[in-house]
Amino acid sequence: MSKKQTSYKAIDKRLITEGANIDFTLYETNDAKTQMTLFLQSDSVVGGDKKVYLREVESLYIDATDYDKYQSYAQKHLQSIASNPDIPFSEKANIVYAKASEVMENLFKNPDSLENMKHSQEIVNGFVSLALQDEATLESIMKIAAHDYYTHTHSINVSIYALSLAKFIGLKDKDLEDMGMSSMMHDLGKSKVDAGIINKNGKLTEQEFDTMKGHPQLGYNIAIKMGLSDKRILSGIRDHHEKLDGGGYPNGLKDKQISLFARIIAIADVFDALTTKRSYKDAMSSFEAIGIMKKQMDTHLDMRLVNALVKMCAVKI
Ligand SMILES: [Fe+2]
Repeated sequence: MSKKQTSYKAIDKRLITEGANIDFTLYETNDAKTQMTLFLQSDSVVGGDKKVYLREVESLYIDATDYDKYQSYAQKHLQSIASNPDIPFSEKANIVYAKASEVMENLFKNPDSLENMKHSQEIVNGFVSLALQDEATLESIMKIAAHDYYTHTHSINVSIYALSLAKFIGLKDKDLEDMGMSSMMHDLGKSKVDAGIINKNGKLTEQEFDTMKGHPQLGYNIAIKMGLSDKRILSGIRDHHEKLDGGGYPNGLKDKQISLFARIIAIADVFDALTTKRSYKDAMSSFEAIGIMKKQMDTHLDMRLVNALVKMCAVKI
């Protein structure tokens, strides 16, 4: 009988911080990456010799069967990392971003999993903690945002832009948390749209665009299935492609029919789309992006919020 081969998974070593209690075993590999050796036994506290050595080790691995334990450890630590004043903003933002990217990628692969949904709430809390810090300016946030387009990183970018704008105009506490959730989930409906359409390079045919237009309602349906019931959260997901002049989709809503959440997400969505590189276009600077939003989308977007975004990045246009 052959011995079962252990399979290992690389983890983000920045999440393994001094003083942390680890309930899974950590491994490292030799230079040739041919052999795994024990780095830290499970149920130990990171410290002593390992603390120094942690800086030198290139990558850390776990036994794949410990993945759930690692996930809950990482989630538990995320908010404390995000609110730790001793870690530089860009560093902690990168850690939260990397974790968010992993969680959202899983959620897009399996949007019906309640477990993934629970993880995304923890990620949102991490982002709210980040957005509440003084260093969270549009410029500092743009530095950590991914500038190549993937649906899951787009969701994260939109969430941090939306949260910063929401905080800037005075939203607080639970409102911010709900805003974070709504923006993080705004494109979840794309998980139910044919990947060929989502990833198509270049212009969609009319029929493909019609299919694509279904994603806000699909996202709304998934959100309800997940147990989200807050009207603002749901409106942000369903109405983020509505336009103030009534020319948007799926319902052609106008003016006051479009909620504050949906207006904020619409702006964050366009801003990220313009400042992100796609296979068919280069990324724009924040200055150029806001210029286009002001000149070409003045009947679509809420200009008071666009002006708030301008103030937020102190760009004079
Ligand atoms: Fe969308």
